[in-house]
Amino acid sequence: MEFVVAKDYADMSRQAADLIAACIKENPNCKLGLATGSTPEGLYDELVVDFETGELDFSGVTSFNLDEYRGLDHDHEQSYHYFMRKHLFDAVNIDPANTHVPDGSNPDAATACRAYEEAIRAAGGIDIQLLGIGHNGHIGFNEPAADFPKYTNCVDLTESTINANSRLFDSVEEVPLQAYTMGIGTIMKARKILVVANGSGKAAIVRDAFFGPVTPFVPASILQFHPDVTVIVDEQAAALS
Ligand code: PGA
Repeated sequence: MEFVVAKDYADMSRQAADLIAACIKENPNCKLGLATGSTPEGLYDELVVDFETGELDFSGVTSFNLDEYRGLDHDHEQSYHYFMRKHLFDAVNIDPANTHVPDGSNPDAATACRAYEEAIRAAGGIDIQLLGIGHNGHIGFNEPAADFPKYTNCVDLTESTINANSRLFDSVEEVPLQAYTMGIGTIMKARKILVVANGSGKAAIVRDAFFGPVTPFVPASILQFHPDVTVIVDEQAAALS
């Protein structure tokens, strides 16, 4: 594992964008695993700048997002479909047909999750998977639990995740209670993994996940077993590590 301490959020975002940009330049048909949340917004801005300045071409790129709320329409402003269009897809020349986000609008969880797992497999797997980390150590929406989910699955969100994400909804009651998410097994199959975290609120979980014991009660801790992980955090998030 490579643990990189960036100066601040802007530096973290630029360094993370550079890693993704390098993958696209090395393989213009690469498969990106993408994440939502506040943390990656800055790195998506950087990738958009790279596209606008002619540095990056997304025309051959395929993407798979980690997760989506169950029950939200693709046009719902808090859906991850909407987030990705707003922060990246509509701003670069990626073919919308090559962008994939679990279909939260499909109430048939088993079918939606199986189809997603199969689409990743059929694409040949993910070259680089971007991850944020939840305050409870979740990656994707894989919440602390007694074991590591292997495949894309439907999860019940924990109270801490619902409360954390309620900042983006009008009220906590509007936060969906479930989500479809790549499993830990799906994530671990990515050839390369990039984790980003910033701010003092993430310092304890960064310490526990990357320097503590590997346990499904801290889902991100499994990444210590992946052969090619880069963790980029700002100084505040690194403060306890
Ligand atoms: P955040 O979310 O980037 O909004 O902190 C990270 C996560 O919950 O995975």
